[in-house]
Amino acid sequence: SLATTVGGVPLTSCVYNASGPRSGTAAALSKVCQSRSGGVLAKSATILKQNGNPQPRTYHAGNSLASFNSEGLPNNGIDYYIAAGTIEECMASCDDDSKPYMVSISGKTLADNLEMLSRIAKAPSLSKIKAVELNLACPNVIGKPIIAYDFEQMKSILQEVSSAMKDTPLKLGIKLPPYFDGPHFQQAADILNEFDGSIAYVASINTLGNSLVIDPHSEAPVISSNQGFAGLSGQAVKYTALANVRKLRLALKDSIDVVGVGGVASGRDAFELILCGATAVQVGTCHWTEGPKCFDRICQELEELMESKGYQSIADFKGKLKDW
Ligand code: DHB
Repeated sequence: SLATTVGGVPLTSCVYNASGPRSGTAAALSKVCQSRSGGVLAKSATILKQNGNPQPRTYHAGNSLASFNSEGLPNNGIDYYIAAGTIEECMASCDDDSKPYMVSISGKTLADNLEMLSRIAKAPSLSKIKAVELNLACPNVIGKPIIAYDFEQMKSILQEVSSAMKDTPLKLGIKLPPYFDGPHFQQAADILNEFDGSIAYVASINTLGNSLVIDPHSEAPVISSNQGFAGLSGQAVKYTALANVRKLRLALKDSIDVVGVGGVASGRDAFELILCGATAVQVGTCHWTEGPKCFDRICQELEELMESKGYQSIADFKGKLKDW
């Protein structure tokens, strides 16, 4: 069985969609719901609907090998993602009532995030929203650095957000950027550990910020917005994701789950992240390039790999990466 839990929320499959690609509308999310995705996670919301950066703002090199985006958070605004009608449309096509619907928020300011949380807490369909993923890792909003690279700011945001969510039934997840320097993993984990009991899970990693694709013919960047600088995702970042999941799993308290995300395109990729300690994996770029049938394929590949190794459950190998 691929069943797992993320921060106490049960999922019938440990593979589900990352916030971002194909998650901005109820129509797209309803296709995720119809697939074997273990959950349905909406696109990062801002308070108001916004169109994002001008096109071209994405580029795919070799299917899901490396993708680049500087979308600038196009989304329908938080009220859309928490509306009863949206959630009904998203979830109508799942046979499985227990598949969780989750939202992601990516406010431009702390005040925006708190306002969105207060709207979520008052939503008539609150009981249908199982978790809120707070995105502290967006690299594409011009003039707004990645929050989780500024540890002081990260701590004060977590203080405010965790106290605002105290009296809600919602689970809090934190979307993290990739870290690269040894001490940064520990500094991030030390802060997150101060909020054990409030933070149910972290999702690691978001895109690698500020990569650049050049077109040698035009001699200009391929992506028009943000001077061509973009977040890098796809299979190329799997190795960074594996290291981040492993380092965070070792440094975080047991009460904080780690969800692995970054370059998952096969059952083997999911298996490796779970070995590193992930309780579930999210799929972003591969969902973007392949469409929602990727969830069925990845689940089947993971089942076959588990079968070949005699593993019956995620718990049989989760976090059990061997020493060399
Ligand atoms: C966008 C990209 C991200 O990696 C993210 O976390 C949020 C938004 C974007 O450009 O839309």
